[in-house]
Amino acid sequence: MSDIAEDKKAAAKQAISFVLDDMVVGLGTGSTAFFAIKILGEKVAAGLQIKGVPTSLVTAHLAHECGIPLLAEFDKIDLTIDGADEVDPQGNLIKGGGGALTREKIVAAASEKEIVIVDFSKQVMRLGKFPLPVEVLPFGLKYVVSQLRKDFACEVRIRKSGDEAFRTDNGNYIVDCEFNQIVDPAELTVHLNNIPGVVDNGLFVGLTDLVIVGKGAGEAETILFDRKKSDARENPHHPL
Ligand code: 5RP
Repeated sequence: MSDIAEDKKAAAKQAISFVLDDMVVGLGTGSTAFFAIKILGEKVAAGLQIKGVPTSLVTAHLAHECGIPLLAEFDKIDLTIDGADEVDPQGNLIKGGGGALTREKIVAAASEKEIVIVDFSKQVMRLGKFPLPVEVLPFGLKYVVSQLRKDFACEVRIRKSGDEAFRTDNGNYIVDCEFNQIVDPAELTVHLNNIPGVVDNGLFVGLTDLVIVGKGAGEAETILFDRKKSDARENPHHPL
């Protein structure tokens, strides 16, 4: 296994230690979340009682293979473990490298606790080097692309999968936007989501409770954020 993969696994392993019996657990998408789902599957096989909420069809398939029971619908999730493409010092994220950003954001918003697991390469001082994914309804694609080019001085690319345009699990397109530096993620996310035809964008602002960073030699650093004061802190299921 590469060093980066080891770091992802170390972060995943630490995140799983927060999962307790009877929790509803949001299951992220991507190569880091992959390790968390595998470890969770082993815990379920050993008797852990949880129900999962997958953030993508790929994750649903993997969770099923690992024997994790899944919920078809949800209104509240105890804890979600997901990866990210970039994390800034405030815990704001860019997500959507795997195209699952809209479901990932719904699951993060429904979660009492959102744990983000990354290797150290995902930590940045300022978001924006990673092209920001924007999910777009097919009907609005041409209009949204023209608005993005007009409103922002950024390069805009429709994501491909081989020769075809990439489609999300929701049947939509992804437009990747090269901002390079995002000065105000909260303002940008509102601006983007106000363009008719935009379903959602990959900026996750104020949705992170804990970031766990794999740092080499099986070590992981945890960074705590105060996303929201809620009754979650009185809930015995929540050790955070
Ligand atoms: C998928 C995501 C992933 O969490 C993100 O792309 C990170 O993936 P990886 O862990 O493979 O680096 O947002 O939509």
